[in-house]
Amino acid sequence: MTTPPIEPATGHTDLLAQILDYANRANPYPLYAELRKTPVVSTYHEIVALMHDPRIGVAGMGAPAGSAAGGAGADAAAGGGAGAFIGMDPPEHDRLRRLATSHFEQSETVRSDMLGTATGLIDRMRGRKQIDLVDDFAYPLPVAVICQQLGVPHEDEPRFHPWAEAIITALDPRPGQQAAAAQASAEMNQYMAGLVERFRTEPGTGLLSGLAAEDGLSTADVVATGRLLLIAGHETTVNLITNGMLTLLRHPHVLDRLRHEPELVIPLVEELLRYEPPVQLNPKYTTLDDVEVADVTIPKGSRLLLALAAANRDPNRFADPERFEPERENNEHLGFFTGIHYCFGAGLARQEAQVALTELARRLDNPRLLRDPPPYRPNPTLRGPRHLPIEIDGINPR
Ligand code: HEM
Repeated sequence: MTTPPIEPATGHTDLLAQILDYANRANPYPLYAELRKTPVVSTYHEIVALMHDPRIGVAGMGAPAGSAAGGAGADAAAGGGAGAFIGMDPPEHDRLRRLATSHFEQSETVRSDMLGTATGLIDRMRGRKQIDLVDDFAYPLPVAVICQQLGVPHEDEPRFHPWAEAIITALDPRPGQQAAAAQASAEMNQYMAGLVERFRTEPGTGLLSGLAAEDGLSTADVVATGRLLLIAGHETTVNLITNGMLTLLRHPHVLDRLRHEPELVIPLVEELLRYEPPVQLNPKYTTLDDVEVADVTIPKGSRLLLALAAANRDPNRFADPERFEPERENNEHLGFFTGIHYCFGAGLARQEAQVALTELARRLDNPRLLRDPPPYRPNPTLRGPRHLPIEIDGINPR
């Protein structure tokens, strides 16, 4: 059932073209259902098997702009310099990822800082009848969270917003977006390198300072990891929060339940990652040898297109997969991927989405969608609304 989808066989070409076509961005799921019938890696068990097979890797491919989680784009937009571990195979991948893990904080303080940021953003909506959930909330939150993780001094944080925005725009493969990104990228590299150098003599808190103290890591290595976390964790999290609110507004009884049963948010966020995954397609991997899957041999050197959003609705894995079921059990979706490149920030992203959706449900008074479907970003890989205009009666007290 699997062929090298870099040059999909006739029949898939049309389907893939339709999935990439902006006209289908608001609802690509019927196309994914078609895709599951055809030989592209769009089914759950086959993707899991492939991504646990050491004959699959990124070797030699680097990571193309616009690839999943922005990892590739992270390198592309870096304009050279050291690579980041998302674009590496073992053993170097594992070494750098392990070092980053050991300096990544996941404590109660992280959650309470996150809540503080979310509360502040909602407070600023007071007195308004209409908000854009993306610009007013979902977009600024992840930058603030990741800056704290990296240990960027609070007063420098505002500089990161335009940098992150420009660099993320460069993940959009369409022409014309690259020049501003290159400039922003160079500025951010320079800033981070300065910070890392300072941390070498005056250690501070956070991941950059921790990595700066490790033997065998150059400043460029530390900067590459810092940028990767910023980029891989930004638009993905924006889209999870925005897709989440959109789905809740389309299922008002679930939104209402969340107001009274905040613990519902835990399975709810998992179901959102299955039902509306921010990373829909992963085009980064390649076969390092001939690999058989479901009775088909994929020749060595083939590029794989892994359709995570299709696998998440595979009826051979999930019962009634087109249904949004906030309390779904046995929900091991592929929203954060699988195998050795499983999302590094999954724990942080889960917490961000949980805090964000709980607070939005609690504090937005009578929210109503103003446009359904909302306008989407052009990117088919990192899919999500560009704006989510919502009408509200007010903001409930904290
Ligand atoms: C809802 C939010 C998120 C989603 C849906 C998501 C999804 C993913 C996916 C699908 C991958 C696999 C990418 C690939 O193989 O090319 C990935 C990898 C990764 N993600 Fe996330 N991510 C999210 C948030 C974050 C956050 C907040 C961070 C940083 C703190 C982060 C850091 C990373 C890194 C570093 C990798 C590469 C892991 C490796 O190569 O070992 N992600 N993510």
